[in-house]
Amino acid sequence: MTTKKILVAYTTNAGSTTQAAQAVSEGLSNANTTADVRRLEEVTDLAPYAAVVIGAPMIMGWHRAATKFVEQHAEALSRVPVAYFFMARSLTKTGETQIAGIPLCIDPYLAKSPKQADRLSYRERYATVSNYLRPVLKAALPVKPVSAGFFGGRLDMYRLKLWQKLFVMLIIQAQPGGSIDQAFIKEWAAELFTHFDSQASLPKK
Ligand SMILES: Cc1cc2nc3c(=O)[nH]c(=O)nc-3n(C[C@H](O)[C@H](O)[C@H](O)COP(=O)(O)O)c2cc1C
Repeated sequence: MTTKKILVAYTTNAGSTTQAAQAVSEGLSNANTTADVRRLEEVTDLAPYAAVVIGAPMIMGWHRAATKFVEQHAEALSRVPVAYFFMARSLTKTGETQIAGIPLCIDPYLAKSPKQADRLSYRERYATVSNYLRPVLKAALPVKPVSAGFFGGRLDMYRLKLWQKLFVMLIIQAQPGGSIDQAFIKEWAAELFTHFDSQASLPKK
């Protein structure tokens, strides 16, 4: 059997999403598949890939480069199994397990219960999975990801520009620090085969 190639395309603002992309590639690599980890900016051709995973941090919405990438490659991405992952420091627990039929995988350490479940504050509403995911789906309507992962990211204040520090402190009120749970992300990636299989003939682990 020939080895199938999966693309893990990611972008980052301050560097930490690179670790998550690496964990995704480990979860996707086995005897029958190899995963290429590439910065989104370097990817021009999706033709060699049997499936594509796209990851980026939340930077006032999913990183602009990632949204632009799915827009630009919408047609090619609509023909292969695709999964998205989001790195974040603030997520409101709403109990949703899918959005628009797309299964969600949420890092339990990232999601926090709102103060009042029936009356979300502005910040809590801003940080819902729905508010993060829906604009991305709208940007590339033909692309239906098989899964969307939401993982805890890292916030290194000293790496940020002043306006970024202000946004993070005042709007999302995220705490600096954090670590990437590579084992959790790897597990999500390995489970993608189940979803990929239902769309295309990708070999199982
Ligand atoms: C300007 C800015 C805006 C951000 N906006 C959000 C946000 O809306 N929601 C969130 O959960 N995290 C937000 N974050 C936190 C980042 O998504 C998180 O720290 C991520 O892990 C950074 O990844 P990177 O190191 O690859 O850039 C923001 C960070 C910055 C600097």
